[in-house]
Amino acid sequence: EKGGYEHFMLKEINEQPRSIADCMRGRLDAKNGRLILGGLRDYMNKFQNADRIIITACGTSWHAGLVAEYLFEEFARIPVEVEYASEFRYRNPVINEKDFIIAISQSGETADTLAAIELAKSKGATIFGVCNVVGSSIPRATHAGSYTHAGPEIGVASTKAFTAQISVLTMMALKLGYQRGTLSESRYMQLLSELETIPSKVERALKLNDKVKAIAAEYKDARNFLYLGRGYNFPVALEGALKLKEISYIHAEGYPAAEMKHGPIALIDEEMPVVFIATKDSSYEKVVSNIQEVKARKGKIIAVVTEGDTTVRNMADHVIEIPETEEAFVPLIAVVPLQQLSYHIAVMRGCNVDQPRNLAKSVTVE
Ligand code: M6R
Repeated sequence: EKGGYEHFMLKEINEQPRSIADCMRGRLDAKNGRLILGGLRDYMNKFQNADRIIITACGTSWHAGLVAEYLFEEFARIPVEVEYASEFRYRNPVINEKDFIIAISQSGETADTLAAIELAKSKGATIFGVCNVVGSSIPRATHAGSYTHAGPEIGVASTKAFTAQISVLTMMALKLGYQRGTLSESRYMQLLSELETIPSKVERALKLNDKVKAIAAEYKDARNFLYLGRGYNFPVALEGALKLKEISYIHAEGYPAAEMKHGPIALIDEEMPVVFIATKDSSYEKVVSNIQEVKARKGKIIAVVTEGDTTVRNMADHVIEIPETEEAFVPLIAVVPLQQLSYHIAVMRGCNVDQPRNLAKSVTVE
């Protein structure tokens, strides 16, 4: 059932070109400029006219929510808040009927997310679910939703569900931007076509496996890791760090790269591997200076860069080159080598990759 793979996690990492394509199948037709999310149809009005979008989730799903914050604000110009479900539900939050709530959950059973939904519902907000498990509790508790169609995810560390969540949220943001007129027709068409190329670009990124494995061998005994990125890649840094800590038990922190000098920079010495997501985008130059700051303190630099980048190659200890895409779509590709890195490090350390200690696939207790 592991399809010839040693672990479910590796199988699921490798399935991503297909799971992302499955998620877009029947929804995205770039050639004809069509993007249809069935679940959204009856609620498009509410969505379009919302004063605010509140995204609530836990763990990796919360990271997908952070990516969506950038997507919705850039393309649809609606203010977004991303909330840990566990904080949101106990904070007596200000919510009203003009709020559009998006709850993200792979399992559809996370207790805190479910409770956050019930709370928002009681205040009259519209609740939209982005879930993977069909017929689970969250889709039943929401007004509407779109499934991620990633197929069963068995490994405790979420991988293909994350990229499928981002795929759904990206389609939602593009649709919303187009309907609201904040995205021009031509830009919309351009983005749809690029989105369609993502599965094949993820396929290419997967080929980096051997290179990533060699890097893993070099750093498997590290005691700490730092992951840094900016903009769309800030949530990718958080997700890379979460993947590493949950399956390899190495302490890892993700940070927005610019925040480094507000504290974490004190940790940097020759023992500290720092993973940068430094793709060619609007914050590239800034990230390059952050890399210089780490290098000056002798930190070890592992950088995920855009194919062909020579600037970072000359500075970093290791580069992982991923295919170029729209800035907004980079997380879908950049997260892949980070999943592979955590996988290989965990295997090399003899950890139980699919069932890490102390963790359950879905957290049904608060
Ligand atoms: O099923 P959910 O998406 O609601 O689960 C949320 C988190 O428990 C989950 O993403 C967790 O952080 C994973 N182990 C991350 O890999």
